[in-house]
Amino acid sequence: MMRKPDWLIPIGLMLLGMVPFVAGVLRIVELGGSAEISPENARFLENPLPVGIHIAGSLLFGILGALQFSPGLRRSRPHWHRISGRVVVLGGFASALTGLWMTLYFPNADINFDGPVVFVLRLTVGVSMLWSLVLAISAIRNLDLAAHQRWMTRAYALGLGAGTQAFTHIPWFVWPELQGEFLRSLCMASGWMLNIMFAEWILAGAGGKLGVSTKYQSNRPNRGPQLPPVAKGAR
Ligand code: HEM
Repeated sequence: MMRKPDWLIPIGLMLLGMVPFVAGVLRIVELGGSAEISPENARFLENPLPVGIHIAGSLLFGILGALQFSPGLRRSRPHWHRISGRVVVLGGFASALTGLWMTLYFPNADINFDGPVVFVLRLTVGVSMLWSLVLAISAIRNLDLAAHQRWMTRAYALGLGAGTQAFTHIPWFVWPELQGEFLRSLCMASGWMLNIMFAEWILAGAGGKLGVSTKYQSNRPNRGPQLPPVAKGAR
């Protein structure tokens, strides 16, 4: 069972991702229906597979991934953490790979003012997210729990940049006269930057002050990852 503060972490993360999660579901519904082609949706309707896989993978990564950050759930349901973790990683790979594919091959959506800066940012974030997932898997295979946790946190922070970008785009809507390539690049970049800075801050130990424990615990007897033994008298 998750205790109250434990609930707050996954719920907070899911709320942060709410805008792109809902946008994704709406886009899937649109792709499945008979929507009229417009400049805004043409690239998705002409080639629905990558965006469909992207949204499905991102939803799995974002929603199941949020639950992985509950220390209570990890302790009380270690089996769930391991099974769900595999799905989260698959979702993360699907999200990042299709995100990269769309960056490289989708025609640029002029209406979004996505320019070369956003192009380079997406490539950097997509590759960094993939690399973080690979390092997280390699760490858990070596039973290095601290490194696993660090790299999963970074991968999640990069992926959930889509959620923070919903907020960093507020000036975009408040001052439409400023809309252009510069503001778009700034809104996109600041979403990813804020997430990665927050993740590094938590990983540096500041999370303790917020009551956010990042300590991993496994109660699986004699199998798989275990915390190092605690010296006598330390408990
Ligand atoms: C959990 C994380 C993510 C979520 C929830 C998410 C969500 C979405 C959604 C809903 C769309 C469709 C947008 C629309 O319908 O207009 C989309 C498109 C896209 N996403 Fe993601 N995404 C995530 C991560 C990423 C990452 C890490 C990248 C970086 C490579 C990325 C790159 C893209 C690209 C290039 C598009 C197409 C944009 C366009 O042509 O307008 N996404 N994403």
